[in-house]
Amino acid sequence: MPVLPTASSPLVTITVDNKEVQVPSDTNLIEALKAIGIETPHLCYHGYLPVSGNCRQCLVEVDGPRGMALTIGCYTPVRAGMKVATPASSPRVAEARKAVLEFLLVNHPLDCPICDKAGECMLQENYVMAGASNSRLSPEVGKLYHGNPEHSSTDSKGQHRGGKRVDLGPRIALDEERCIQCDRCVRFMRHVAGDEQLQLASRGGHTYITTFPNEKLNHPYDRCLSDICPVGALTDKAFRFRKRVWALSKVPTVSMDDSLGANIWVDYADGVVYRITPRCNAEVNRSWLSNAARDVVQNVHENRLLSGDIPKVAELIKETKGKIAIVLGTTCTAEEIAAFKKLADKIGNRAQLFGGSFLPVQEADGIARSGDPVANRACLEKAGINANLKESLQKAKEFELLITVSADLWDYAPKEAAVLDNIEKHIVLSPFNGNTAKKATLAIGIRHWIENSGTMINSKGLEQKLQGVPTKEAAMAENSANIAEALWELI
Ligand code: SF4
Ligand code: SF4
Ligand code: FES
Repeated sequence: MPVLPTASSPLVTITVDNKEVQVPSDTNLIEALKAIGIETPHLCYHGYLPVSGNCRQCLVEVDGPRGMALTIGCYTPVRAGMKVATPASSPRVAEARKAVLEFLLVNHPLDCPICDKAGECMLQENYVMAGASNSRLSPEVGKLYHGNPEHSSTDSKGQHRGGKRVDLGPRIALDEERCIQCDRCVRFMRHVAGDEQLQLASRGGHTYITTFPNEKLNHPYDRCLSDICPVGALTDKAFRFRKRVWALSKVPTVSMDDSLGANIWVDYADGVVYRITPRCNAEVNRSWLSNAARDVVQNVHENRLLSGDIPKVAELIKETKGKIAIVLGTTCTAEEIAAFKKLADKIGNRAQLFGGSFLPVQEADGIARSGDPVANRACLEKAGINANLKESLQKAKEFELLITVSADLWDYAPKEAAVLDNIEKHIVLSPFNGNTAKKATLAIGIRHWIENSGTMINSKGLEQKLQGVPTKEAAMAENSANIAEALWELI
């Protein structure tokens, strides 16, 4: 794996474009140049994958025994005193990078207007960086697409190869014509997913990406392939053809799907969430995000609960003379936890706070999931709330009123939740009108965690900030911390 520079990386002096500069040592030239503000176009290089050096897009000149010579930046380590030339001082580097692009584009389809990657395609960006050039391909020759009869074939197992839409598996479709054979996807499956489901097959211009015969691409992280494919070859079926990327706005936030708190971008337009992608954080999820964490998009606008009567809820709390259990669910922020703690304090001894989920804690997968469904367990524990729901609700019989906040117990674990059926009155604060809300004496719609701003402490003890996405439902529903404040005023 490449060594990436950090704030504490030691510095060495090198000469770049005839100027002495200080760059981080122990890294490669792409990273070292980036640290001083010089972008090097690249395609196959990815900071969290082993270097394969196959695209040749990152050419620079470096001094050697025979003077300045072209070499690839991704595979050249920084060495004190070295001399490096980029296009700023070397027309040869500019020309060589352009020549590589010409080869990559010679049989590349003219698909940008219909390609999902357009707008965030590294090939497009590199072309723009290099400056436009006219095609030297004569119209009589024409392009040789992978979908053309010369390039598509039926293999010895009877499987069709090549073409515009290759169904690789349940979540990923491959457009073979757009593939530049960078092998990022193969390296991801081998070194990150640890399950070698993709391979480069055949030779030369006939090389193509494929699964093993009669096998499908199917892995809990396979949607990462659509992020790391530098072009529009591997497309995520859930996002394919749904929206042009330049029409999307991005919000940087944190996933409350799991206590690792993977850093994410949420892409939305006109109040609708279209996709969730990883936001690189070396200390948390690097560039990876599980399929499960992305699936939130599928349900965030479905079956929402948007109404509720806060004064009526306050009345119900006031008229309850017995004990009150308040259950804070898996996605509550530190601010929500604090607001309900304040409310419980005002209710007095009758109120008891619980936290967590009936869902089991699983093993961390070593990629981007801690396995703990209680995203903000650290904040619950910091507030002195027992986050082992199973253990704490053994005493369910003692309570007259149950208040659940983002804890859809009957939706996710109905069997375990049955123990709470005997509690006489239920107040449900939930984003969804699911089984839990349907059981409620009174229910109030609240914002989904994706629409909430606030704080969480992840399983590694890092404090992270959520930023709310302005969905159309967020404009109608309240944050549950504000509802707790309103109840505090009313009771
Ligand atoms: S992969 Fe990039 S260059 Fe190729 S068609 Fe798509 S957007 Fe255009
Ligand atoms: S499918 Fe994408 S990631 Fe895989 S080799 Fe082709 S261009 Fe690279
Ligand atoms: S990025 Fe260096 S060879 Fe591909």
